[in-house]
Amino acid sequence: MFVSPIPAAEPATPLEAAFASRLIEWQRRHGRHDLPWQNTRDPYRVWLSEIMLQQTQVSTVIPYYEKFLARFPDVASLAAAPLDEVMALWAGLGYYSRARNLHRCAQAVVERHGGAFPGTPEQLADLPGIGRSTAAAIASFAFGARATILDGNVKRVLARVFGIEGFPGEKRVENAMWSLAERLMPAPDATDDELSAYTQGLMDLGATLCVRGKPDCARCPFAADCVARESGRQRELPAARPKKAVPTRRTWMLVLRDGPSVLLEKRPPSGIWGGLWSLPEAADEASLAERAHILGAQPSLTRLAPIAHTFTHFKLDIEPRCGELRAVPPTGVCQALDGETAWVPLERIDDYGVPAPVRKLLDALDGPLL
Ligand code: ADE
Repeated sequence: MFVSPIPAAEPATPLEAAFASRLIEWQRRHGRHDLPWQNTRDPYRVWLSEIMLQQTQVSTVIPYYEKFLARFPDVASLAAAPLDEVMALWAGLGYYSRARNLHRCAQAVVERHGGAFPGTPEQLADLPGIGRSTAAAIASFAFGARATILDGNVKRVLARVFGIEGFPGEKRVENAMWSLAERLMPAPDATDDELSAYTQGLMDLGATLCVRGKPDCARCPFAADCVARESGRQRELPAARPKKAVPTRRTWMLVLRDGPSVLLEKRPPSGIWGGLWSLPEAADEASLAERAHILGAQPSLTRLAPIAHTFTHFKLDIEPRCGELRAVPPTGVCQALDGETAWVPLERIDDYGVPAPVRKLLDALDGPLL
C-alpha cells in the first residue's frame, strides 16, 4: 500500500523562515542564562523545574526547587518518598495535582525506565503530569531534541507577532498555533545548543519583553514585523477567554484549639487541595457547630475574619470559626489520632502540606496558641 509522506512543517513566509535564527541570536545576547535549572542537562532537574514552572512564576519557584533538590537529589529518592512528604514540600506552590503527578511520574520512571528519563518527547509525554509542551521543553533542554514548546507565554508571542485571532484555549486556535510553532523551529541540522537556546528564547521573550500588561516592544527582535505592534493591538492579542461568570462557593472551617495545637484533617486524595492537611470543614454554620460539638469543642465558637481565595474556575469564601476543647483528649495533645486526623502544634505546621489560605489563617492566629 502506498503511504503518502507526512508533509514536513516548513516555514511558509520570510518571517517564519527568519524567526528561529533571530530568536536564538536575541536569546544569546539578552536572554536568561543563570536560572538555577539552567546549565545542566540532568533530565531530573530539568523535569522538576518544568513541572514547577507550569503556571507559576520563576521567582516563586526558585526556593521550592532548591528545597526539593536538597531533600530529593534524584528521581529514585523522590519515588521512594511518602506522598505526604512530597505534598508538605509542595505546600504553597498551588495546583496540587502537579505534586501528586510528580510523585507518580518519579515512580513510573523508576519502574518503567529503570530510573532513567526517556529521551523523546513522545515517551516523555506518556508519563504522568507531562503534556506535549512540557515534554518538548524537557526533551530539548536535557536531550537536545528538535521539538517545540507551546505554553501560555509562547501563545501570547505567536498571537501578537503573527496576528493570530481567537482565544488560544479554543482547540481550533490552539491547533493553528501548534502548526505554526512546528514551522518556526530551527532547521533539522541545528545543533543541541541552538535548539535549547531557541526553546529558552521562546520562554524568555514571553516572560521578559512580550509580557501581558505592558510589552517592551522597543527591545523586541520582532518589533518591525509584529502584527500586534503595527496595528497597536498588543492589548487585544491574544484574545481573552470568553467571559463566563466565576461561581463563588462558601465553606465554614473550624479552628479547634488545644493549647499550642490545632486539629487538622487530611483531605480526600482528589478534589481541591486533594491529599493536603486542612481544618475540619462544613457546608454551613449549623453543620460546623455540630461537627465542632462531636469533635469536643465548647459550645461557643468565635467568628474570625473571612478569607477569599480564587481558583481558576471558582472563588472560595472561607468563614473560619474558632473553638476551644471542652477537655484535654485522653490521648494527650500533639498526637496523631489516626491517619486522617491529627493535633498539630503550630510550630510544626511546616511538616504538613497545608493549603496557602488555611496557612494564612493559622498564621494570623494570635497569642494563646503559641
Ligand atoms: N517557564 C517554563 N519553563 C521555564 C524555564 N525553563 N525557564 C524559565 N521559565 C520557564
